[in-house]
Amino acid sequence: MGIQFKDVSYAYKGLKVNYDAIKHINLNIKPQGEFIAIVGQTGSGKSTLVQHMNALLLPNSGNVVVFGQNLPPKKKEKINYLRQKVGLVFQFPEYQLFEETILKDIMFGPKNFKATHDNALEMAKKAASIVGIDESLYEQSPFRISGGQMRRVAVAGILAMESDILVLDEPTRGLDPRGRRDLMKIFKNLHEKDGKTIILISHDMDLVSEYAKRVIVLDDGKLVFDGTKENLFEHPDFYSFHLDLPTPLKILKHLEQEAGVVYQPKYDFDTLLNYLKEASHE
Ligand SMILES: Nc1ncnc2c1ncn2[C@@H]1O[C@H](COP(=O)(O)OP(=O)(O)OP(=O)(O)O)[C@@H](O)[C@H]1O
Ligand SMILES: [Mg+2]
Repeated sequence: MGIQFKDVSYAYKGLKVNYDAIKHINLNIKPQGEFIAIVGQTGSGKSTLVQHMNALLLPNSGNVVVFGQNLPPKKKEKINYLRQKVGLVFQFPEYQLFEETILKDIMFGPKNFKATHDNALEMAKKAASIVGIDESLYEQSPFRISGGQMRRVAVAGILAMESDILVLDEPTRGLDPRGRRDLMKIFKNLHEKDGKTIILISHDMDLVSEYAKRVIVLDDGKLVFDGTKENLFEHPDFYSFHLDLPTPLKILKHLEQEAGVVYQPKYDFDTLLNYLKEASHE
C-alpha cells in the first residue's frame, strides 16, 4: 500500500510546447516508518512529483496508486479521504492559507474530514501548540504574519488532519536556524513516536543527512538515485548528481586529507563531535 508511481510522466502545457517536468518515475513508498528526502537542483521536478501524491496533479502517462486507490479515484469523495491520508504542505504557504483567521485555517482540514466542530477545534489547538503558534495569534489573519509564521500555520493545518503520510515541500525555508531545528524535531518525533512516513523536500543537505533515512534524487525530471543516505553520500558518482555534501562529511574528508584523521562517515554534528573527541584521545 502506501504510494506507488508506475512510469509516471507529467508535462506542463505551454503556449507552443509542453514542458516535461517529470519523466518515467517509478517509486514505492511505505505507508509507515519511512523518512525520505527528495533532493535535486532547482527546477528538477521535486514539487511537481509530490503534487501527484494527493492528486493535485494527475499524470499524463503512467499511474499513481495511493493506499490502493488508482488516482484519480472514480468517486469524488475519495479524493478528500486520500488528501487526509497524505497531507501536503506546499512550498509556498500563502497558496495553502485562505481562511479569515489562523485558527479557522488550521481547523479547515479536520472539519472537512468530518470531525465535529468541537473535535476539529481541539485538533487545531493541539496542532497549533505543537508548532509554537501562540493563542494570541488565533484570531489574526494568516496573511498578516511573517513568512516563517505562515509556514508554521500551514504545517499545523496538516498536523491537525492527523495524516498517515506527511509530505513537506521545503518546510524550513524562511525559518531562522532555531525555528528550522524546532520544526525538524517535530517531524522527527512524528516519525519516531507515531511511525509516520515523512517525505521532505529540501535543499539543505545538512538536514537531509541528519534526518532522512532514504534519499530520492531528481535531475532534470528523472529519478537518478533512490536508496539509503549512506549509499548516496558514498556513491562513486556522487558528483554527477549535482548535490553538495553535508557539512559533517565535508569536515571529515578535509580532516582525513589534512590531518590524517581516519574517515568514518558521520551524518550529524553531534556524532561528528563525539567521533573527533574519541579520535583526539587515541
Ligand atoms: N505551473 C507551471 N507551469 C509551467 N511550468 C512549470 C510550472 N511549475 C513548474 N514548472 C516547470 O517545471 C519544472 C519543474 O518544476 P518544479 O517546481 O517541480 O521544480 P523543483 O524541483 O520543485 O524546483 P525548486 O527547487 O526551485 O522548488 C521547472 O522547469 C519549472 O519551470
Ligand atoms: Mg519546488
